[in-house]
Amino acid sequence: MANWIDVLPLDELKPGMHTLLELQKLELLLVNIAGGFYAIENRCSHDGGELSDGEICGTEITCPRHGARFDLKTGAVLSAPAFADIASYPVRVVANKVQVFI
Ligand code: FES
Repeated sequence: MANWIDVLPLDELKPGMHTLLELQKLELLLVNIAGGFYAIENRCSHDGGELSDGEICGTEITCPRHGARFDLKTGAVLSAPAFADIASYPVRVVANKVQVFI
């Protein structure tokens, strides 16, 4: 059953920063974009590249392996060679803690 899980204190991930989370056997990439938090799975749907090493521009991330782009807010694929979306997870801040719904 999915739950909200505390992942880190709010002030630990400043705008422009990202971090990896291991939650329930999944590796997630948590990003702070101008104060908005977003969490996506850390695996590219093309060939499993680790997106955490990719370039972030606005709300998009580019896979470092072959250049597929994804929307950090939704996990939607934006360009080939990937054609499938990746999972995204709701994020909220409660009592100065960042929480992910997983
Ligand atoms: S593994 Fe990400 S584009 Fe190929």
